[in-house]
Amino acid sequence: MTAVSAVAHANIALVKYWGKRDGALMLPATSSVSLTLDAFRTTTTVTLLPEGAPDEVELDGVRLEGAPRTKVVRFLDLVRSQVPPELAGRGAGVVSRNDVPTGAGLASSASAFAALAGAAAGAYGLDLDRRGLSRLARRGSGSASRSVFGGFVRWNAGDLDDPVRGDETSYAEPLPTAPDLDVAMAVVVLDAGPKAIGSREAMASTVATSPYFPAWVEHTELDAAAATAAIAAGDLTVLGEIAEASAMRMHATMLAAYPAVRYLAPASLEVLDAVAALRADGVGAWATMDAGPNVKVLCAARDLELVGEALALAPDGARRRVLLARPGPGLRTETLP
Ligand code: DP6
Repeated sequence: MTAVSAVAHANIALVKYWGKRDGALMLPATSSVSLTLDAFRTTTTVTLLPEGAPDEVELDGVRLEGAPRTKVVRFLDLVRSQVPPELAGRGAGVVSRNDVPTGAGLASSASAFAALAGAAAGAYGLDLDRRGLSRLARRGSGSASRSVFGGFVRWNAGDLDDPVRGDETSYAEPLPTAPDLDVAMAVVVLDAGPKAIGSREAMASTVATSPYFPAWVEHTELDAAAATAAIAAGDLTVLGEIAEASAMRMHATMLAAYPAVRYLAPASLEVLDAVAALRADGVGAWATMDAGPNVKVLCAARDLELVGEALALAPDGARRRVLLARPGPGLRTETLP
């Protein structure tokens, strides 16, 4: 029996991906730039089952059924559509584990689909280079295309004129990085409260109804270019400013959707104040937020403990939960004996 295991890490976008131009091919409206973290890891093993056996999917020890299973089965079908018939007829056993602090609300579809892409491609004998793996992971979840690589990564929007060319050219790649750009990220974990709208649906609604969406698309391409240049030049201040601005613009664009999409909680804004206070004290720290209330704060690696400690102190004297992360590696796969 062929079994392949893969490990992928979460990534946090510094220039955000928010909106698709093609939902079937998972082509983004814009390029995006991210940092892969050493924390929040997914390990997935795919084992080929005998011909005709149904796919079995297990996540963190629980057998998946219904929609979450279907999402994985569809992805496996995409892999099977690219392999010879004798392999395409075989089901798969998928066992996945997330190393995320429990209750942190940080389980990531990026690490999940990057690991699944690596393990499924390996088990079905689909011979893909890193670029091919990134394109495959993209089909599971857009941000997963970026978790194929470690450190700073750019996911290219790809050819905008033709979907076939777009599919071929929309992949992530590691960014040339100044050797002295030594960054880290403090992740402030806030109470997620009642679950807001899922990011895929929220994204589609933003594209369809936010009058700010065209401006978002136009500006994000500029931000991606500027962030790429700042990473190459090792300019953390410029990178941090672009990252915080991109997050603010993404949330502004979704707040302008109808009905409005709001992920930020009052506590998120308090953390933004704390980040601004750090900067006023001369500490380089810049915030970014995704489809939830948590705030991730980019800073120099040497400032990480200090930033983490400052953000742990809430105005009411309570302590916030802060996880400290550093740049992490790209996708790794291993064929099991
Ligand atoms: C806010 O990659 O989870 O984290 O492609 O629909 O699976 P799908 O969406 P997903 O969206 C991530 C959105 C974001 C910003 C980002 O990571 O760039």
